[in-house]
Amino acid sequence: MAEQRLGLHPGLSLATVFDATGFDATVDLRSAARGLTEYWSPKVVARVNDQFVKVAKLRGAFAWHSHAAEDELFYVLEGTLRIEYEEGRAVELRAGSIHVVPRGVLHHPVAAEECLIALVETVTTEHTGGLATPLTKTIEEQLA
Ligand code: NI
Repeated sequence: MAEQRLGLHPGLSLATVFDATGFDATVDLRSAARGLTEYWSPKVVARVNDQFVKVAKLRGAFAWHSHAAEDELFYVLEGTLRIEYEEGRAVELRAGSIHVVPRGVLHHPVAAEECLIALVETVTTEHTGGLATPLTKTIEEQLA
């Protein structure tokens, strides 16, 4: 079964992933991110081995959270993203820049203006780590 091969939950719709990752398929990350209707709601556009490539549209502040076992790559496509860490540390990402948040480290993404990003995350990565927040999206929602 494809679902088992991909290591995803049984019964999950994989149409989005397969449509976007056929051997001859291409994905325009900016267009995909621009087309999103909801802020802080990542969508999977491809899978590379055990990583998902996702796009998201951000505005405002997300929840403080960490991912115990996974690093998380942010790639800013448009706009500016600030990722805050504890003790007042922060990184500012402009379009074209990447930043990797190390596993286990509390982080707080903030987009003062609308910002388009791509993410590379291990397929097991939970949106807000083990924390449930009103903004949290499940993997299933990210694949829908
Ligand atoms: Ni995170």
